Amino acid sequence: MILRPAATADIDALVALEASFPAEDRFDRRTWRRLLSGHAATLVAAAPEAPDQLLGAAVMLYRRGLALARLYSITVAPAARGKGVARALMAACEADATARGARAVRLEVRSSNSSAIRLYEAGGYRVIATLESYYPDGEAALRMEKCLNAPSNGAP
Ligand SMILES: CC(C)(COP(=O)(O)OP(=O)(O)OC[C@H]1O[C@@H](n2cnc3c(N)ncnc32)[C@H](O)[C@@H]1OP(=O)(O)O)[C@@H](O)C(=O)NCCC(=O)NCCS
Repeated sequence: MILRPAATADIDALVALEASFPAEDRFDRRTWRRLLSGHAATLVAAAPEAPDQLLGAAVMLYRRGLALARLYSITVAPAARGKGVARALMAACEADATARGARAVRLEVRSSNSSAIRLYEAGGYRVIATLESYYPDGEAALRMEKCLNAPSNGAP
């Protein structure tokens, strides 16, 4: 699997990755363009034989001077799920955050999204808060955090 930073040429493929999501959970082309040019790092995964066909993508947000990075989005194409693509993307995002001086990564996830919550727990993230009515449809979010020097298998 290839992991590389996303480029503007990937925008159609990034939009296609989220095509099956509810409208309020999707980024439109304008948002992707903004994410690719601002204080964000978007990493994409692809098979070596088809580098333009995306298997998944993850977006990290960085604020200047802040030791806390934010995992803003992670998506794997339905046909590529269950093969470690998200785990590889998260490891690459965490390495990127460490290289930029971040000491922790924080994220929010829908409280009903059990596969994502398991992914994060397996990666060493812990729930630090429940945010009621966080999403536009009223669903709560779990706020999770990982210290970047912590072990990734969740062991104490
Ligand atoms: C959540 C998501 C990113 C996982 O991607 P993935 O590539 O299938 O995940 P991986 O194969 O890397 O799984 C890594 C670990 O996560 C956990 N996990 C992932 N999917 C899971 C599922 N459906 N059920 C239970 N655990 C799951 C497991 O612990 C897994 O490790 P294991 O395979 O050794 O058991 C993917 O299902 C997805 O894109 N969902 C829709 C978008 C989304 O919900 N994004 C997160 C919120 S923004």
